[in-house]
Amino acid sequence: MKSWITFLLLLVATSQTQAALENTTCKTCHPVIYAEYQNSIHSKSSIYKDAVHKAVWDKHPAKAKGNYTCAKCHTPSDHNVMDGKSKLADNEIQQTEPISCQQCHKIQSVEKHVKSNKNILTTKPKTFFSADKALKGTKVEFKEESHFFGMFTTKSGSPYHDIDYSNEGYYNGDSCMGCHSHKQNSKGFVVCDLEVKQGDSKESCVSCHLPQVQGSLANQKESATHAFHGQSIHNSTPALLSKYIKLSVEQNANGFDVNIKNEATHTLFPQPLRLNQLRVSIERDGKTIELKTESFARVIGTDGKPSMPWLADAIISDTSIKAHETREVKYDTVLQKGDTVVVKFGYYVVNPKAAKKLNITDKSATEFIVLTKKRFTI
Ligand code: HEC
Ligand code: HEC
Ligand code: HEC
Ligand code: HEC
Ligand code: HEC
Repeated sequence: MKSWITFLLLLVATSQTQAALENTTCKTCHPVIYAEYQNSIHSKSSIYKDAVHKAVWDKHPAKAKGNYTCAKCHTPSDHNVMDGKSKLADNEIQQTEPISCQQCHKIQSVEKHVKSNKNILTTKPKTFFSADKALKGTKVEFKEESHFFGMFTTKSGSPYHDIDYSNEGYYNGDSCMGCHSHKQNSKGFVVCDLEVKQGDSKESCVSCHLPQVQGSLANQKESATHAFHGQSIHNSTPALLSKYIKLSVEQNANGFDVNIKNEATHTLFPQPLRLNQLRVSIERDGKTIELKTESFARVIGTDGKPSMPWLADAIISDTSIKAHETREVKYDTVLQKGDTVVVKFGYYVVNPKAAKKLNITDKSATEFIVLTKKRFTI
């Protein structure tokens, strides 16, 4: 009998953890954003969904100690792991919402630290921060007003939560910087740094990575567009972001230059596994002439050789393209009238050499992804 009760209690407990999936609530009223989020890397940032993160974690010295230090950025929704109450293990949070809606929408401020920054979440229950230029500075609570003696009612706000439109971090992207700013390894070496130069750019993390796309933001509110929530460089974002990389070709006496203008307010690409390339060919008389491929990367390592991020203590070479930089690449092939120069700019999520070492075979990580391409006819 007693064991039955324990069993039933356990059942209740497990069904409660299932029901506690935070995003399930949001799904009811924000179906379009919820669906986009399913394809985003923010819903797949755990070792159980991201083969690249898993491959690096499997070789990481912290794994042997059972200390999943990646949790604060990769799986903050798994509160038991975050609070040290349990070890990293497969569960529904890890599978479906490692960075839940609330983990982003409750960030009140970002505390700056040398090793890596820290998100400070609001403790106010059911209060979410958001951005809306027309409502900036206000706090919206749910209101239902009846007019003409109850003939009809108008609703404003959300029946489930309050919305705080006064947090600047949701307009300029500072709310992203708790996780995205920089990271040092145990040697005090900066493994990656987004090197943000916001300056006088009118674009921000939010306007570029959460651009307005068609579809309503909530099923109880008609709106023509909503902020896109499916960001992932593995699949969805290149199409939305290609316009921020401008390619041009300039002819000269000895050949030509290809110019790459990076309008992003950060380095391309900060993650040490990435390999960014420019591929150029010439179509002439029905034939294609392939020219040299130019690679851009920030290579880190020890003793002059590339190494895994936790061992690195120096930059071996850095040809990555910085915020607002225009990079010029020279070619010494003289162009002829009628030639078409085909320029492709893109990246490997994982540098093929590193993929081999890490045994990564996942196609979205090992195939060259074209971010933007252009044809120039001479
Ligand atoms: C301070 C926050 C933070 C911590 C802590 C952190 N990461 Fe990350 N990690 C990120 C961010 C942000 C990205 C995405 C960066 C980008 O794409 O430029 C990322 C990306 C990665 C990637 C590339 C994933 C891909 O799909 O290409 C790997 C691998 C990775 N992290 C491994 C780890 C491991 C292993 C740990 C723990 C030992 C860890 N990270 C700890 C923030 C963090
Ligand atoms: C019962 C329905 C309902 C639920 C459940 C719900 N929301 Fe909302 N939410 C709304 C409505 C309606 C609005 C639009 C309010 C307005 O603009 O007046 C809204 C607006 C928002 C906004 C701000 C939109 C803006 O204008 O910038 C955010 C952010 C948000 N919700 C996040 C969430 C998150 C996260 C969850 C889950 C934890 C959630 N919501 C659950 C109905 C809901
Ligand atoms: C709680 C931490 C956290 C916050 C907050 C956060 N991110 Fe991320 N983000 C990550 C991690 C971790 C990854 C990499 C996951 C992986 O590849 O496994 C990532 C990946 C990304 C990627 C895609 C890179 C890729 O590898 O596919 C983009 C773009 C991105 N984030 C943009 C943003 C923007 C814009 C914001 C702010 C609105 C933001 N993020 C807020 C943790 C965070
Ligand atoms: C002007 C537009 C623009 C702005 C502003 C911008 N980005 Fe990007 N971002 C890009 C482009 C273009 C890429 C490369 C294309 C891609 O990821 O597919 C990129 C790539 C990224 C990546 C993936 C890098 C990688 O190696 O995985 C992350 C993460 C990211 N941005 C985060 C941010 C954050 C955080 C901010 C705010 C500080 C920001 N971005 C501001 C345009 C922008
Ligand atoms: C990586 C951080 C991040 C995650 C994860 C995230 N959001 Fe957002 N969300 C934002 C930011 C930043 C904005 C403000 C963008 C804007 O309005 O321009 C936003 C805007 C919104 C809006 C208002 C849309 C509009 O166009 O005004 C709603 C509603 C919303 N989010 C709901 C959700 C729901 C539901 C989830 C989970 C399925 C979620 N968010 C996950 C960062 C995030």
